[in-house]
Amino acid sequence: MKQDLVYTLAIESSCDDTSAAVLCNDTVLSNIVATQEIHKAYGGVVPELASRAHQQHIVPVVHQALAKANIDKKELSAIAFTQGPGLMGSLLVGSSFAKSLSMALGIPLIAVNHMQAHILSHFISDNEAIPLFPFLALTISGGHTQIVMVRDFFALEVIGETKDDAIGEAFDKSAKLLGLPYPGGPLIDRYAQKGDPKAFDFPKPKVADLDFSFSGLKTAILYFIQKQTAKHPDFVTQNINDICASIQHTIVEIVMDKLKKAVKQTGVNAIAIGGGVSANSGIRQALKQSEKNLGWKTYLPKFEYCTDNAAMIGIVGYHKYLKKEFSPLDCPTLARYKI
Ligand code: KG4
Ligand code: ZN
Repeated sequence: MKQDLVYTLAIESSCDDTSAAVLCNDTVLSNIVATQEIHKAYGGVVPELASRAHQQHIVPVVHQALAKANIDKKELSAIAFTQGPGLMGSLLVGSSFAKSLSMALGIPLIAVNHMQAHILSHFISDNEAIPLFPFLALTISGGHTQIVMVRDFFALEVIGETKDDAIGEAFDKSAKLLGLPYPGGPLIDRYAQKGDPKAFDFPKPKVADLDFSFSGLKTAILYFIQKQTAKHPDFVTQNINDICASIQHTIVEIVMDKLKKAVKQTGVNAIAIGGGVSANSGIRQALKQSEKNLGWKTYLPKFEYCTDNAAMIGIVGYHKYLKKEFSPLDCPTLARYKI
């Protein structure tokens, strides 16, 4: 190992993506992701199938990450892995692999919180802009919906989160009601771009403080579709663009209302977003507009660092390495793990 250079091998296996990355300090040398296509046939992630697929993918994915980074495993300084939150069977595949390799190579093991990793992905060196502390992080994906006050790499405070469905589930479950395949979020986005966002009115949930709730929206859409198709059987196919635009508009408004409240409450107007739903064109547009209309500063990491990936685990691993925050080999795997 060259002086001052920290080579981290990172492993992510919390849900349905098996990923391995190699970082040199805060720079990503490789970031390999094997997405599990098998779940598409079931309309959602099947935990047992996910852990089996992780077992098949993990060795080739790690080999590929080392090869692409052109690093021999003997040059590694540490192994970082996702400790949680996530699916227990999936997490166990990554954690067992990371523990065995750290023991075999005699290098430190670093356990990483997946939610902290989504946020610190903004600090990977090849992002367009790196946020300054303090900032508000909005993590939105199929599994998470959180607003976090970030004062430092390790001073994070959740100030709002969903009480039921995650925002990605709201997109995917709405899409399912419209007969669209899983994951339906990107399809709703695509149809929405051709539709009228004010065509139909869906209720916004009344949730206290900075918390979210999306389960009511799904029910409202279900009743709306049942009522309309009873009168016009082809209602959904004939109005798909307008329905999707209206659903997306409602979700974007829910997010923006909470962000405005968070900015007002904290006095912090720098917003960094992450998670798969940050690909949504409506959310991106609304955030861009906020820079002009509200004077906010917004940050979006490179797309490959938004969805689940090991590079984001590696950046947390690197910062923990600098603090010598290592984990024992018997550290637990945590399906629930608060920041
Ligand atoms: O972060 P991610 O890849 O995986 C996890 O949830 O862990 O996020 C996937 C979620 C899915 O719910 C998917 O429908 C949603 O992100 N998604 C979108 C868009 N692209 C992905 N939702 C709305 N609009 C999009 N363009
Ligand atoms: Zn995630």
